[in-house]
Amino acid sequence: GQELLTDTFGRRHTYLRISLTERCNLRCVYCMPAEGVELTPSQDVLTTDEIVNLAEIFVAAGVNKIRLTGGEPTLRRDIVPLTQRLHSLPGNPAIGITSNAIALRRSLAELQQSGLSLLNISLDTLQPQRFEQMTRRRGLQKVLDCIHHAVDLGFDPVKVNVVVMRGTNDDELLDFVAMTQHLPINVRFIEWMPFDGNVWKDSRMVPYREMLAAVQAHHPQLQRCQDPAGEVAKNFYVPGHRGTVSFVTSMTQAFCGDCNRLRLMADGNLKVCLFGANEVSLRDALRQGATTEELQAIVSAAVDRKKAAHAGMFELAQRKNRAMVKIGG
Ligand code: GTP
Ligand code: 5AD
Ligand code: SF4
Repeated sequence: GQELLTDTFGRRHTYLRISLTERCNLRCVYCMPAEGVELTPSQDVLTTDEIVNLAEIFVAAGVNKIRLTGGEPTLRRDIVPLTQRLHSLPGNPAIGITSNAIALRRSLAELQQSGLSLLNISLDTLQPQRFEQMTRRRGLQKVLDCIHHAVDLGFDPVKVNVVVMRGTNDDELLDFVAMTQHLPINVRFIEWMPFDGNVWKDSRMVPYREMLAAVQAHHPQLQRCQDPAGEVAKNFYVPGHRGTVSFVTSMTQAFCGDCNRLRLMADGNLKVCLFGANEVSLRDALRQGATTEELQAIVSAAVDRKKAAHAGMFELAQRKNRAMVKIGG
């Protein structure tokens, strides 16, 4: 069944992002309002068995990579057995996690033994006070310790996601690039995207071209790498550096043409595009006793409604969507 997850533009969806929880132990300014967001009642959140049952349908239909997101995925207590069960599905899909690393360190080795192989860590600043300002919590040292621990465990590369906001952390690009000199990390500078409650302003979004120019000004030897298919980032490296530097250009140079992603959210809704308001509840179908064939039909119909591309940044900024913390990126 590859066809099930192929949309009307011929895009094959082989990558499923699963949000395990809407809860988070940080309150990042680019992601959600200070007061947090209204949470889905726990009985309406997918159970471990429901996640595995739904994932199995996607894996049978061609998904070969699953990324666990949130909120903060490590706040879900069953993350280790869940990782193990998802990795054990037929074909052994690659399992990734995107975490803020505040509570990741202690379970990382266990997660790796359970099949976790792709690790992305969110870190937007290397300055303790600024960390507190951007995340509205403390914890920079925990995150840095976890990055080093991940490197020691052999995750290569550890991807470090840096959401760049003008006037907030846009003066730290070179400090992050410096981290790639000796560490096998992939620093990814991300254009800030608009979602409900994150008070996005285009004036505070730093465009890819501008970030690239700032890095090139100090590293004129910066080289472009070949990007794998379905990659959200434009990849570069400084010759001689152990790690790499990338840019996620969702706003100024969208990469929807080879999108391979689907999203299952904590409340059981399937989202076929990060910016698509169109969602369908797989949880309700599952709890009403839908057969595998019926679930496949619902998924297939949703995939067929997927648009060619998102609407463009100014349009998106006006539109209603979920808060980012309820999508998982
Ligand atoms: P890899 O599996 O390592 O490629 O990670 P990823 O980039 O898919 O996932 P991650 O959770 O690290 O997300 C990094 C950034 O890319 C975040 O800002 C995400 O919101 C953004 N992103 C991820 N997938 C998509 C997508 O399909 N469309 C857009 N526009 N942005 C995305
Ligand atoms: N724009 C771009 N990236 C975002 N992330 C969270 N909110 C936003 C936003 N508004 C990133 C986080 C995390 C990833 C899943 O998404 O840094 O690493
Ligand atoms: Fe895919 Fe939508 Fe992201 Fe474009 S915006 S790459 S279609 S998820």
